[in-house]
Amino acid sequence: MNFDTQHCRAVITGASSGLGAEFARQLAPTATALYLTGRRQEALEAVKTACLTLNPALQIHLYACDIATDEGRGALLENVHHCGFQPNLLINNAGMGDYGTVASAQAEKLRAQMDLNMTALVLLTHAFIPHLQRPGGIINISSLASTLPMPAMAVYAASKAFVTSFSEALAIELAPESIAVTCVCPGPTPTRFSQTARRPDGEDTDRGGQGALRIPPQQVVAESLAALRVGQACLYPGLGVKIAARLFRLLPRIFLRPLLRRRYAKGTV
Ligand SMILES: NC(=O)c1ccc[n+]([C@@H]2O[C@H](COP(=O)([O-])OP(=O)(O)OC[C@H]3O[C@@H](n4cnc5c(N)ncnc54)[C@H](OP(=O)(O)O)[C@@H]3O)[C@@H](O)[C@H]2O)c1
Repeated sequence: MNFDTQHCRAVITGASSGLGAEFARQLAPTATALYLTGRRQEALEAVKTACLTLNPALQIHLYACDIATDEGRGALLENVHHCGFQPNLLINNAGMGDYGTVASAQAEKLRAQMDLNMTALVLLTHAFIPHLQRPGGIINISSLASTLPMPAMAVYAASKAFVTSFSEALAIELAPESIAVTCVCPGPTPTRFSQTARRPDGEDTDRGGQGALRIPPQQVVAESLAALRVGQACLYPGLGVKIAARLFRLLPRIFLRPLLRRRYAKGTV
């Protein structure tokens, strides 16, 4: 199953910054309508302005809410119906991380990651499937972190492993319904992600060696949209990330564990 993004009507979560804002800007020139959501209204307004500069005829709806809560998701779905928005593309992009160990984490931040990265993604997908115009498309943003257990980012990596597994199964379920599903697993990408994930006490995760994997959000999004257009079920954007993902998945756990242990020990001295 593939999906042509020309004249699409897309709902984008996490559209107020980073990859979500870039999806909006790259779809803007050829889309018919965009429905952009995030919590920060002002940041959404700025993305809207940028999109209208690219395509003044584009219809853009904004809705600020917290999709990590039942109330926020309920209000969002009600607003989508209220404004008569009929999407044929859903981009589940909103997500967050937390740098540091599980033992020293704040329980609320552990929960926030699970609620946003997994619960919101699954329940929004479930709610939108019956309303998605056919042929339709779904892009789920996972992470290269989904290929590894990651000490000092344990819940984030596990939540993204969930997203990748969920998306691959969903792609098979929805193909007969003419809905294409692409799961995107970016490596480190310069956005607000690190700012949100960093802890106030300074506890961090070891990000050594990430330089070779880093590509700009523009490239991540361009490759993601190209993957959806050709019906690719799972994408690792950028050559470095593709090679790293292949290595991480092929390396037997018995060899991987000492490497992860050494990396973790290095990060904590
Ligand atoms: N950047 C990376 O290195 C990287 C690597 C791999 C995967 N990813 C994934 O890429 C996706 C996009 O992240 P990004 O890198 O673009 O980071 P970002 O710049 O921090 O963007 C995150 C977006 O999610 C929204 N969001 C966060 N919590 C929300 C909530 N409770 N309710 C509604 N919206 C919420 C934020 O909007 P508000 O702040 O306005 O709510 C923002 O628009 C995430 O799923 C992330 O896990 C990122």
